[in-house]
Amino acid sequence: MVSDLISILKDPNTKEDLDKYMFNKEDGLLINKLNHTIFPIINGVPILLNDYLENTFYEKYKTEISKIISNNSIVLPKIKKGNSEFSFSMEWEAFEAQNMNKTWGTSTEDRLQQFYIETNQTLESIKGKTILDAGCGNGLLTAALAQNGAFVVGIDYSNSVFRASKRSILPNLLFVQGDLENPPFADESFDIVISNGVIHHTKNTKFTFNQVARTVKNSGIFYLWLYKRPFTLYFSVYIRVTDFMRFVVNKLPFGFQKMTVKTLTYLINFIKKIRGRKIDHNELLIDMFDTLTPRYKHYHHPLEVSEWFFENGFSAPSLCHWDNPYGFGMAAKKEKMIQTPGINFNSNYVLKRFGCI
Ligand SMILES: C[S@@+](CC[C@H](N)C(=O)[O-])C[C@H]1O[C@@H](n2cnc3c(N)ncnc32)[C@H](O)[C@@H]1O
Repeated sequence: MVSDLISILKDPNTKEDLDKYMFNKEDGLLINKLNHTIFPIINGVPILLNDYLENTFYEKYKTEISKIISNNSIVLPKIKKGNSEFSFSMEWEAFEAQNMNKTWGTSTEDRLQQFYIETNQTLESIKGKTILDAGCGNGLLTAALAQNGAFVVGIDYSNSVFRASKRSILPNLLFVQGDLENPPFADESFDIVISNGVIHHTKNTKFTFNQVARTVKNSGIFYLWLYKRPFTLYFSVYIRVTDFMRFVVNKLPFGFQKMTVKTLTYLINFIKKIRGRKIDHNELLIDMFDTLTPRYKHYHHPLEVSEWFFENGFSAPSLCHWDNPYGFGMAAKKEKMIQTPGINFNSNYVLKRFGCI
């Protein structure tokens, strides 16, 4: 079943409307009649990555696709074997294979409670609101938000969206495969946007921040969690070492990346056991994928991120999770900050002076 929320989707390149054409309950196409482009819907998941059609999908619906193409003067995209390859697909595949019920060591119920605190919402206040989970990963939190009565879209670049969509079928929930650097939504589409540990994994965090911030409605909330710049010598060294390992590992073919991560996980677990420490093997495996396989990983400072919020028309953000050694959360409302007649120091000077940029 394809959710009604599909009408919220736009062509990622032009932000033009898309028409839905279904071959059956699960598979179909989204058509941009103005720009003459098509995007597949496979197993209920719209794929808005815009550069290819998957081979088996094309073969299965060749006649229908040819008809649509000739009726709308569409240029047939590249036909490719298999889905888009992405390191995070391996991470979520491992998560599913281990049948885990906690994400980052936290139950979905606890993550939901965290969401309410981070975004200053309640069970009552989110009912009927439109929420975007930007980089939704395994989609467990995304589905829980929909079960609590919000209209929720979970977008992710990885193939995790297919499993997430199969697991939770609700009319007010839609999973999309797409790229946050080019989000397939019109500006001001969502009341609340959350992005937990995602956009620092894109080429340029600030660019992606700006792209995602545009999708927040006026008076809407944007919450994100990012890696923090190391504040202690221990973390500076830890980050340098793990980043060097990531630099090497993520250049390997996916099969070797998997093998390296699994071997290192066993090794670390073994060492920890010898030292008398108890550690959940599955949790460690997912953490190792997250540490060693992403192509990009950037670290930020809250002052720097406050400036991004300010530039995108948000009021002063609130800071949370500062006690977490790896990262911090920030949330702000899209509303202009009140201008005061006070002294306005050159903010670039201040940021540079305190080593934030
Ligand atoms: C560390 S995981 C966090 C997942 C989820 N937000 C959570 O809290 O469990 C990062 C996620 O960001 C997704 N991601 C990274 N770059 C992306 C991009 N350009 N567009 C969409 N998703 C992206 C990855 O596929 C991955 O699922």
